[in-house]
Amino acid sequence: MAIIDLRSDTVTKPTDEMREAMAKAEVGDDVYGEDPSINELQDRAAAMMGKEAGLLTASGTMSNLLATLSYCNHGDEILMGDQAHMFWNEGGGQAALGGVQTRLIPQNKNGGIDAKDVSKNIRPTGNPHVAATSLLCLENTQNRCSGAVMTPAETKAVCDVAHASGVPVHLDGARIFNASVSLEVPALELTRDVDTMSFCLSKALSCPVGSVLVGTKEFITEATRWRKMVGGGMRQAGILAAAGMVALDTMIDRLAEDHQNSRRLAQGIANINGLSIDPTSIQTNIVIFDVDEKIGSAPNFIKAMKDSEILVSYPGERSVRMVTHRHISNEDVEETLSRTSKVVRELQSRV
Ligand SMILES: Cc1ncc(COP(=O)(O)O)c(C=O)c1O
Repeated sequence: MAIIDLRSDTVTKPTDEMREAMAKAEVGDDVYGEDPSINELQDRAAAMMGKEAGLLTASGTMSNLLATLSYCNHGDEILMGDQAHMFWNEGGGQAALGGVQTRLIPQNKNGGIDAKDVSKNIRPTGNPHVAATSLLCLENTQNRCSGAVMTPAETKAVCDVAHASGVPVHLDGARIFNASVSLEVPALELTRDVDTMSFCLSKALSCPVGSVLVGTKEFITEATRWRKMVGGGMRQAGILAAAGMVALDTMIDRLAEDHQNSRRLAQGIANINGLSIDPTSIQTNIVIFDVDEKIGSAPNFIKAMKDSEILVSYPGERSVRMVTHRHISNEDVEETLSRTSKVVRELQSRV
């Protein structure tokens, strides 16, 4: 039996074309701004997202952290959805390194954030009793909400409220191209109303490393200073940028296949007695479903899946996550469903 790895789209490996481009990449010292491949990638990324300038960073976590560090003072408050990756899975970096506290806004089960909730959670500068709101962070697609997308209209509604109070907006667009492909709109339309955003090259786009942060020239100058401070000045990293450019040219349109596979996966899971999911809610490549208490704990289920050579991840409580990506074929989806229903039957027979 071959292992089917559905833990994340981060497990994708670089393509042959990427490796070739990496081998041939023109490089220079990026801390001096002299790496031509990085400069080209940053300019392309900024243009694709409708912003003035870009900055290659080591990871999505680093990009998000640089946004906080660039916009906020110690003692400020940042707002984000209560399912935000920045809150759950970035090691508490915003607090530890940015000295900010996070205020969470309720999200509905499709990840939606009500503009009224943003409005009522914004706190003013100049009041000594409160931590001033200095940044609103959004996420698209939304990892912990089964890869739900935010439409341009939803994005605009919450950005308008933040901007009316002078609060800038950063978009964690780690999987922005999944949103763009799913909604059939250019990424530009999803980023128009935010001030800064970042996207990952290393997830479904199959690059080995990297994220790009984009915004105004002034913001990127500030973020570059913070990137140096956190040790992110990477010198001849043009070999990574070269892979990134291949990704932008060749890896975006194919995301539709991953979405098709995840919808099929969700439909199959919905038919397995003991697992629950609303398959109509799946919009991109992330499938999160619940394991019925009668078949035991989610960690036990995950262990039994691993024994059947299916790797999945564990967002918490009774939930299990499967992510489709370039190395998962239609056949892998059918095989996953068949092994999963066997695992469930075996677990059910033990109770
Ligand atoms: C929505 C979202 N934002 C940010 C990140 C962080 O990216 P990285 O793993 O490159 O730090 C992830 C990683 O899974 C993510 O899903």
